[in-house]
Amino acid sequence: MPRLIIVTGAGSGIGRATAERFAAHGDGLVLAGRRPDRLDAAADALRAAGAAEVHTVPADLSDESGALRLHDHVEALGRPVDAVVCCAGGTVDAGDGHLKSIAAEWHDTYRANVLTAVLTVEALVPLLADTAGIVLYSSIAAYRGSAGTGGYGAAKAALHAYTHHLATRLGPRGISVNAIAPGYVAGTEFFGDRMTPAREALLIRQTAMGRAGTPQDVAGLAFFLCSPEGAYITSQIVQVNGGSQHGV
Ligand SMILES: NC(=O)c1ccc[n+]([C@@H]2O[C@H](COP(=O)([O-])OP(=O)(O)OC[C@H]3O[C@@H](n4cnc5c(N)ncnc54)[C@H](OP(=O)(O)O)[C@@H]3O)[C@@H](O)[C@H]2O)c1
Repeated sequence: MPRLIIVTGAGSGIGRATAERFAAHGDGLVLAGRRPDRLDAAADALRAAGAAEVHTVPADLSDESGALRLHDHVEALGRPVDAVVCCAGGTVDAGDGHLKSIAAEWHDTYRANVLTAVLTVEALVPLLADTAGIVLYSSIAAYRGSAGTGGYGAAKAALHAYTHHLATRLGPRGISVNAIAPGYVAGTEFFGDRMTPAREALLIRQTAMGRAGTPQDVAGLAFFLCSPEGAYITSQIVQVNGGSQHGV
């Protein structure tokens, strides 16, 4: 029986590349994200790439009802989940610096990065196979801060505590829980129109390897952490950043 893998944020960027890595292994996939057209396009590509089966669940995972919809879809498949990879996340506009926009920045980044992971995982915990793997997505911003008033980096740091909590809670079932903290990864929708050539050059100069990360650089680690070879790695925050230094 092929493994059953759940990937959130699977319609673009790192999430889609992660789903492609599992598809190449012949796993079955459930893709979640808000935009149905993106999920459908990814699903077509994954079927062509060798996925055993692909399901799409359009849902806002920062909302309880979205996470419940994902739970109900997966439960109806009638078999245990082998891995959950939570890629959904992103930044929100910093606003004008007034308290109202600062509150919105922190609230919205928390929902986008923390609640999407927490509600997805908590909805799926009862459906997890013993020995399943869970991977959450943090960021280099959790170590060195982020733009605006810092809400994005703080939200990603919150996922570190949740990773350790979950690893302790689910370890007795043989379930591993880790977070990946990427540096700058090009070729995703993450930066929208906020990336300038000067900023990109700076981010690349900060790496030891002299290049941006690719979604595939990150996807391979998520796949490994959810494989039998990675089963004893748990409660870790693994940085994938080409050697970028903290706090530069
Ligand atoms: N790219 C980088 O340099 C970088 C660096 C460090 C960390 N990261 C992290 O890596 C993860 C993947 O980012 P990416 O670079 O691949 O960017 P991306 O292409 O923008 O992917 C993010 C995905 O999350 C989905 N998403 C966002 N909010 C959601 C919600 N409320 N419910 C369900 N799905 C939601 C988006 O799809 P919909 O809009 O259709 O929902 C999108 O497909 C994120 O957690 C990001 O914070 C990225």
